[in-house]
Amino acid sequence: MSRPSQPTPLCLLSLLWMFQVCSGIKWLALSQTPASMSINRTQHCKQLRGLVSAQVQLCRNNLELMQTIIQAAREVKKTCQKTSADMRWNCSSIETTPQYLPDLERGTRESAFVYALSAATISHTIARACTSGDLRYCSCGPIPGEVPQPGYRWGGCADNLHYGLLMGTKFSDAPMKMRKSRSQANKLMHLHNSEVGRQALRDALELKCKCHGVSGSCSIRTCWKGLQDLKDIAMDLKTKYLSATKVVHRPMGTRKQLVPKDIDIRPVRENELVYLQSSPDFCHRNEKQGSFGTQGRQCNKTSIGSDSCDLMCCGRGYNPYTETLVEKCHCKYHWCCYVTCKRCERTVERYICK
Ligand SMILES: *[C@@H]1O[C@H](CO)[C@@H](O)[C@H](O)[C@H]1NC(C)=O
Ligand SMILES: *[C@@H]1O[C@H](CO)[C@@H](O)[C@H](O)[C@H]1NC(C)=O
Ligand SMILES: *[C@@H]1O[C@H](CO)[C@@H](O)[C@H](O)[C@H]1NC(C)=O
Repeated sequence: MSRPSQPTPLCLLSLLWMFQVCSGIKWLALSQTPASMSINRTQHCKQLRGLVSAQVQLCRNNLELMQTIIQAAREVKKTCQKTSADMRWNCSSIETTPQYLPDLERGTRESAFVYALSAATISHTIARACTSGDLRYCSCGPIPGEVPQPGYRWGGCADNLHYGLLMGTKFSDAPMKMRKSRSQANKLMHLHNSEVGRQALRDALELKCKCHGVSGSCSIRTCWKGLQDLKDIAMDLKTKYLSATKVVHRPMGTRKQLVPKDIDIRPVRENELVYLQSSPDFCHRNEKQGSFGTQGRQCNKTSIGSDSCDLMCCGRGYNPYTETLVEKCHCKYHWCCYVTCKRCERTVERYICK
């Protein structure tokens, strides 16, 4: 049997940083797959951008999973940008996928966040796709082993976290499992952070219930284990991003491992994000560092958080401008059954960083 030539995983020789790095998140380029493209033949797998050979193989063996993985890639991009919209680093460089700028190509805190988010998202999306019946090889998750509390019974359709984690891990960890990738430290960092993302997903499995009984009296509840929404998991990971630990790659016992840099000797915790390289402050434009700077970014004059004008504009000051919003107003309900509204204009003051 002739082997079709596969795209060899391209490791980017980054002369700027004098060491070789291999990105494990090139698969996010799937987010650019045209919506019209249907992946129903094994040949289609080779046309997808950003996949390493092991991922192409997974695609061939799991064609029906691919639309879900493409959806996950879109979800990562959207969720990353939404979650970081109020920070100086706002995940805009994810747009350049599959070639990333140094903020995501190096072992930075930002890449730690994106790897964790990607790993959580792919498994979340697959688990949910099982539940909604989009996939043939999985369905609802198992009924919990415990006996439910009185007045509760198991029912509904649990999110299939097990299948989500199984397939999601295989796919998103594949680039880091390749023998070819050179930088051992980066590989360990990405694998660790991906696992932190998946742990955040496991922690997001919660009891969800629906009430039954005479006129919603809730005398009996049907319950299942469902996942929190991705945006909540992303917020959890954002907290972990803000408190991430800097690590170094050094011998511990018989092997080289990642260990916290400044703190007393202790192993890395399984719920903390880790990074190898410090990031710039993202105040100024510096493409060599993958920083777009915050000039022209909107800031919030009344906020005391990271989107406050002081922090966002790095003390450079800001310019006000007014924006006119057109909104529905004076809405009236007409019997039966429609609503009419007027359009009102409202001006608001906004601020952008100098
Ligand atoms: C694959 O999908 C395309 C577009 O939906 C369709 O035209 C084609 O017949 C399908 N091929 C197979 C083998 O199912
Ligand atoms: C992120 O910041 C960049 C540069 O500061 C800006 O051009 C871009 O519009 C922002 N993106 C989002 C999604 O807010
Ligand atoms: C600005 O921040 C305040 C306080 O956090 C918040 O209530 C308000 O909605 C924000 N305004 C905008 C335009 O985001």
